[in-house]
Amino acid sequence: MFVSTILTTRSGLVVWFTGLSGAGKTTLVRALATLLQEAGYPVEQLDGDVVREHLSKGLGFSREDRDTNIRRIGFVANLLAKHGVIVLVSAISPYRETRAEVLAAAPRKLEVFVEAPLDVLIQRDVKGLYAKALRGEIAQFTGISDPYEPPLHPDVHLRTDLMSLPECLDHLLAALERLDIVVKVSHQ
Ligand code: ADX
Repeated sequence: MFVSTILTTRSGLVVWFTGLSGAGKTTLVRALATLLQEAGYPVEQLDGDVVREHLSKGLGFSREDRDTNIRRIGFVANLLAKHGVIVLVSAISPYRETRAEVLAAAPRKLEVFVEAPLDVLIQRDVKGLYAKALRGEIAQFTGISDPYEPPLHPDVHLRTDLMSLPECLDHLLAALERLDIVVKVSHQ
C-alpha cells in the first residue's frame, strides 16, 4: 500500500519550535500534528509545559535547569525520530548552543523560530505570566528578566503577529516537502 511504503522507507525527524512564551509554538505544533496525523504520518508532540509536569518535574528556570530540560526533550525526540516518528517539539529553549547540541544528534531536523514582538506578547498574555513577570512576581522570566537567543539561521521563521495560522502551516508544510518528508498534505 502506498502509505505504508512511505512510512517504512522514511526515517523520522525532529521539528524544533523555539521562541518566547506565548509566541504560538504550542498552537502551531497542535495544528501541524493534526494535519500530519490525518495524512497518516506517525507524529508525537513534546511540549515544554507538559514535559515539565512529568519528565522534568521539579526543574526550575535557571540556565542549568533549562538546559537539563532541553537535553531530556532532545533525548526522547531523537529516540523517537530514529524510529520514523515526526517529532514536534515546542519549548522556549532559549540557549542557542543547547539547541544546536540536541539537534546535532537528530537524524534529520528543522529548527522553527516562532516570533512575535515582546509588546505583542505582553498584550496577548494568555497565561497572565508577562504581567506577573513585569511586576517582579516571577523571577528569570524569558524575555523580561532572562535571556532568549534567537536562531541565527532558522529553517523556518514564522512571525505570528504578521501571518495567519494557515499561512504559518503552509510554510511548515513547504519545508517538510523540501526535505522530502511529506509528500503532499494540504489544508483549507
Ligand atoms: S525552557 O526554557 O526550559 O525551554 P519550557 O518551554 O520548558 O522552558 O517552559 C516554558 C513555560 O513555563 C512557559 O510557557 C510558561 O508557561 C512557564 N514558565 C514559568 N516560569 C517561567 C519563566 N521564568 N520563564 C519562562 N517560562 C516560564
